[in-house]
Amino acid sequence: MRKKIVAGNWKMNKTLAEAQALTAEVLGMVADEVTNDAVIILCTPFPFLLTVKNQLGTNRIAVGAQNCSEHDSGAYTGEVSAAMLKSMNIPYVILGHSERRQYFGEDGQLLAKKVDAALRHGLTPIFCCGEPLDVREKNQHIELVKKQVEEALFHLDAAAIQKIVIAYEPVWAIGTGKTATTAQAQEMHAVIRQQLAAKYGHTVAQEISILYGGSVKPDNAKELFACADVDGGLVGGASLKSRDFVEIIKGVG
Ligand code: 13P
Repeated sequence: MRKKIVAGNWKMNKTLAEAQALTAEVLGMVADEVTNDAVIILCTPFPFLLTVKNQLGTNRIAVGAQNCSEHDSGAYTGEVSAAMLKSMNIPYVILGHSERRQYFGEDGQLLAKKVDAALRHGLTPIFCCGEPLDVREKNQHIELVKKQVEEALFHLDAAAIQKIVIAYEPVWAIGTGKTATTAQAQEMHAVIRQQLAAKYGHTVAQEISILYGGSVKPDNAKELFACADVDGGLVGGASLKSRDFVEIIKGVG
């Protein structure tokens, strides 16, 4: 179901003690200050998932992983499977983040398999797409993002696609302090929703949450989240600071 979602992607940051401190701060501030019903997710590094999950207890805040293997088990040293995440009751997993695509060579074909693995074990994938700067400068961003979505997701049937959360993260906006304008974000989100509608029908497309990511900050979250097709955010740097992250959550309304 389409929901407002604010997910923090901690990437490869924090020690265990720092992760616990950040979680405690976010917990307290969300309880005291957040009045909206946004889904809130902390996507922590693998080693902290269970600790953070236990710390959150029955609170409304959920945890997510930042990646998973396309395989269920086996001789894949260093990998973590969707089955393992499910066994720890981790509900969400980010897949296809541009850093995974860029530094670890993940492509559409692999991501389709990772999406399948996550769904097979009942996890909700937060599937990332987004264009690098040179592609936008050549005005090929729409074409590329549509290709990323099609390659990794369009083998799914209408029931399965509704279990996916999509995050549009223009690479040039990630960690750069350069946020997409509301017009740029809304344009791409509408394109993705239209693409989903063309393949799965209007009703299905309306059920899918599409998040924006890329330098979301307390001072721009509200206007981004107010766009008709922007259903929340995937937040990197600002999710590492409790005050900033909570202000962004409040930007949902
Ligand atoms: P920043 O918010 O640091 O730009 O990172 C965005 C991101 O990559 C979230 O997945």
